Amino acid sequence: MQNTPTTPVLLEAKNLAKHYAVSQGFLKPKAMAKALDGVSFQLTAGKTLAVVGESGCGKSTLARQITMIETPSSGELWMGGKNIAHADKLTLKQVRPLVQMVFQNPYASLNPRKKVGAMLEEPLIINTRLPSAEREEKARAMMAKVGLRPEHYGRYPHMFSGGQRQRIAIARALMLDPEVIVADEPVSALDVSIQAQVLNLLMDLQQQNGVAYLFISHNLSVVEHIADDVLVMYLGKTVEHGDKQSIFQCPLHPYTKALLASTPRIDPAQRQQKMMLDGELPSPLAPPPGCAFNNRCPHANERCRQEIPLLRPFDNRLVACHRVEEII
Ligand SMILES: Nc1ncnc2c1ncn2[C@@H]1O[C@H](COP(=O)(O)OP(=O)(O)O)[C@@H](O)[C@H]1O
Ligand SMILES: [Mg+2]
Repeated sequence: MQNTPTTPVLLEAKNLAKHYAVSQGFLKPKAMAKALDGVSFQLTAGKTLAVVGESGCGKSTLARQITMIETPSSGELWMGGKNIAHADKLTLKQVRPLVQMVFQNPYASLNPRKKVGAMLEEPLIINTRLPSAEREEKARAMMAKVGLRPEHYGRYPHMFSGGQRQRIAIARALMLDPEVIVADEPVSALDVSIQAQVLNLLMDLQQQNGVAYLFISHNLSVVEHIADDVLVMYLGKTVEHGDKQSIFQCPLHPYTKALLASTPRIDPAQRQQKMMLDGELPSPLAPPPGCAFNNRCPHANERCRQEIPLLRPFDNRLVACHRVEEII
């Protein structure tokens, strides 16, 4: 988790938050949904930070802030020595190409009316002045890198399988040589047999070009395959953040324990004591007082119901739990 001088930090989020005003009905005051509520991390070259948590915990909201699709409500987003969280249009135009996104659904994220070649060349047309022949050369080279064949250049997205479409989406995300790729559940819509191929492709590409991944997933088996570090989110906040080995071998936060226990494990030695996740994720409009996880946590006591736990260093990682020393 610690950054060494040889791995440059490409992007840093500090206390990043996004609160949405939500209508409660006619004449009623708007309520605030704290979809993302103060998350901090660094992305370093050639490394993958996985963000995990149940559906609704704020992962996609985080992705939209990091890719500058939305403007955060508060906090800082550092790239290239600049805080770009509230940057002007010109600065955003310069930095946006450096952070590219791969979406969950390769059926919806590709334009059905464009051929693969045109789709890959589009970012070059918008952002560079390369002549058409050089654009085609770059597109074809990228197709080869992601395992597409030359004859695919003139085909439309509907002529491909799900895995091949995700390869096209990855190729498009790489066309401008980004520093960071945000992948929001990139293999969740794919058959299990295809998932590993796409994950391996992502890892190979990272080895070649040193791109940093922010890899979002609710599936911990997938995360175990690809991540270097893991950040566990619950209701818009980080509850545990550390290197993958520590988190998978000895999860500390009761929420991380529950998530891992609900993931099928092949190795019996790695099977956690069963701890099921009861109940549903509370609404970010009305989080429980104290620790947001207290109503589902078997260890919660009075303090947990009143006082919000701070994220603090413990056993070579960060954990937000009042009782971590006692329940370890
Ligand atoms: N534009 C929005 N307006 C209001 N609430 C939103 C908006 N976008 C997301 N939310 C809420 O924020 C929470 C987190 O959503 P999301 O980031 O999509 O979670 P995840 O990707 O982890 O499933 C959800 O409760 C969702 O309803
Ligand atoms: Mg999502």
